[in-house]
Amino acid sequence: MLPCFLLLISPLFCFSCLLMLPLGFLCPSVCICMDYHTIDCRDQGLPSLPSSFPLDVRKLLAANNHIQTIPADLLLFYGDLIYLDLKNNSLTSIEEGTFISSSRLLFLDLSYNNLTQLDAGVFKSAEKLIKLYLGNNNLSEVHKAAFESLSSLQVLELNNNNLQSLSVTALEALTSLRNIRLDGNPWICDCDFANLFFWIDENAKKLQKGVEEIQCTLEDRRIFLHELSDISFRECKYRLSTIDFLIIFLSGVVVSIAAIFSSFFLATTVHCFQRCAPSKDEDEDEE
Ligand SMILES: *[C@@H]1O[C@H](CO)[C@@H](O)[C@H](O)[C@H]1NC(C)=O
Ligand SMILES: *[C@@H]1O[C@H](CO)[C@@H](O)[C@H](O)[C@H]1NC(C)=O
Ligand SMILES: *[C@@H]1O[C@H](CO)[C@@H](O)[C@H](O)[C@H]1NC(C)=O
Repeated sequence: MLPCFLLLISPLFCFSCLLMLPLGFLCPSVCICMDYHTIDCRDQGLPSLPSSFPLDVRKLLAANNHIQTIPADLLLFYGDLIYLDLKNNSLTSIEEGTFISSSRLLFLDLSYNNLTQLDAGVFKSAEKLIKLYLGNNNLSEVHKAAFESLSSLQVLELNNNNLQSLSVTALEALTSLRNIRLDGNPWICDCDFANLFFWIDENAKKLQKGVEEIQCTLEDRRIFLHELSDISFRECKYRLSTIDFLIIFLSGVVVSIAAIFSSFFLATTVHCFQRCAPSKDEDEDEE
């Protein structure tokens, strides 16, 4: 009796459900919307992200597809997004402004894509990010301001990329960092790498796989970082760049010119006083 009764009221129930749904609740046909906030589009062979989602999506899973780009304006309307998984797609770049309204994003997985570079401030507006996965891409350039404003970031993976060097300035922005992976990159142990070496040395505890896993190339030889020490980079520590040299040289020139001018000025003033003083006496005499 009870099931029959349920059958009778279920269409009614569904209709009232539909009325209660917020307008933004439109699940893309290829995805599964588990609830208002979680959308699962994984393993669907998608060539691009669906163009619209329920507006209050918080967790978007789109791993294991063939997504090539994230249109720069796509995430604009999804300011509630907390968790974005784009692992194992075909992304080659991230356009400027992509994460401009992702101020609540905590988790971002872009690993196993084809990214080649990170520009200044790409994640700037996603300033609450805690975990950022960029491993297994083809990154060869990471701008020194790439991680600007990510002061909450605790986990950063840059392993298995194509990095030969990395500015320490980029890492120094990450004041909450606890865990980082840098292994699996073709680092070159030259003086550019020296600063990174000192940083790694000081932050060894944060390296998930340890310093032992990191190798760099010195004159065609692969060397494990633990085989190197401060002494290996001794020459680099006090080395001046051409710009430093120019600044020192130019400030020398400026100081000399200033000295010449000020002594000339002093001499003129003294000379003037010497000439003016007697005439003052004459004035007094006249009075
Ligand atoms: C990436 O996704 C493909 C399906 O698109 C899957 O066959 C492959 O195992 C995935 N690789 C990783 C590393 O997750
Ligand atoms: C990445 O790019 C390379 C060549 O540019 C291509 O062979 C490879 O299939 C791409 N990988 C993915 C996951 O799109
Ligand atoms: C990595 O990027 C370089 C260009 O920066 C490209 O020539 C190469 O094919 C890429 N490799 C892969 C595996 O995508």
